[in-house]
Amino acid sequence: MRIGVIGTGRIGTIHARTLSRHREVGSLILTDVDPVRAQELANRLGETAAPSTEEIFKWGVDAVVITTATSAHAELIGRAARSGLPVFCEKPIALDLPGSLQAIAEVETAGTILQMGFQRRFDAGYTGAREAVRSGRLGRLHTVRAMTSDQTPPPAAYLPISGGLYRDTLIHDFDMLRWVTGHEVVDVYATGSDAGPAMFREAGDIDTAAAVLTLDDGTLATTTAARLNGAGYDVRMELAGELDQVVVGLDDRTPIASTEPSGPPAATKPWTGFLERFAPAYEAELIAFVEVVVGQRTNPCDGREALQALRIAEACEVSRREHRPVRLAEIAGALPYS
Ligand SMILES: NC(=O)c1ccc[n+]([C@@H]2O[C@H](COP(=O)([O-])OP(=O)(O)OC[C@H]3O[C@@H](n4cnc5c(N)ncnc54)[C@H](O)[C@@H]3O)[C@@H](O)[C@H]2O)c1
Repeated sequence: MRIGVIGTGRIGTIHARTLSRHREVGSLILTDVDPVRAQELANRLGETAAPSTEEIFKWGVDAVVITTATSAHAELIGRAARSGLPVFCEKPIALDLPGSLQAIAEVETAGTILQMGFQRRFDAGYTGAREAVRSGRLGRLHTVRAMTSDQTPPPAAYLPISGGLYRDTLIHDFDMLRWVTGHEVVDVYATGSDAGPAMFREAGDIDTAAAVLTLDDGTLATTTAARLNGAGYDVRMELAGELDQVVVGLDDRTPIASTEPSGPPAATKPWTGFLERFAPAYEAELIAFVEVVVGQRTNPCDGREALQALRIAEACEVSRREHRPVRLAEIAGALPYS
């Protein structure tokens, strides 16, 4: 099959490399608003670059992978759907709810496939946590603590187009909260701080965020995110139940040192970033997409799932801005999901 990859930045490079090595994928057409960037990646992978997105559709492909800046996702999803093409798109589905709903409507009207890039659904740790919850081994969950801390901030130019810390980063933790527990968030109380590097204040964003979330079964969850965590890239989720508790992301590379005399030794090679920490999951989700395209498996994360995570992020933005708890029911765009 031939796949078009639109957007050849950080994550587009990773996905294009995975697809380029895949035995079901005969060739790729790569494109980017920066054609030099697309051409350089095409040269490295032995693939073809197109001068613009239009050629992807004109030259003909069997599927499209969208890894552009988030602001372009919704329009490109619609464009691909109208061409009858299956799409893999990076998270979030769009920067806002109207854009997300429009993209979902286009896909559903066309009857095509949209798989969203929530790669943690393919991570061994999160998969294990989901199994532990679903098996009943933990008993009734009382608390979930989720966190994502970047070691180094993204480039300053990325911030104004990222959608902000909740939509860009914590959206992964929101998706995991739903996917691992099998429960919906009913309300949130969120806050944030811009006391760190000036570029976040200048972009109107925050560099640190925290939220308390209540799930529909009464489980309480907390999530935190930080853009500058010198010790390393730290992604964890602790799930505590009446019978047992488990943690995702605690291994010999977790960037935290115990102050206990008999505690575990500090990591000698802490995780440095998402591309390294989630490399196997990024690969697995693209392999899954090829399987979805050829009809060998069902879609692991559709647009409606991505919409739910975005609605939680939106609720957090409202809560932070208005300094009050926000019920998910207040946030527009609720759609039934499977
Ligand atoms: N799943 C994850 O863990 C993860 C991690 C990082 C980024 N992302 C998502 O991936 C997307 C890209 O992020 P990134 O970090 O690779 O950013 P990036 O800035 O490194 O790359 C984005 C690329 O898209 C290009 N581009 C922008 N608009 C375009 C358009 N309309 N048509 C064609 N090309 C266009 C840019 O020139 C750039 O090369 C974002 O939506 C982001 O949220 C997901």
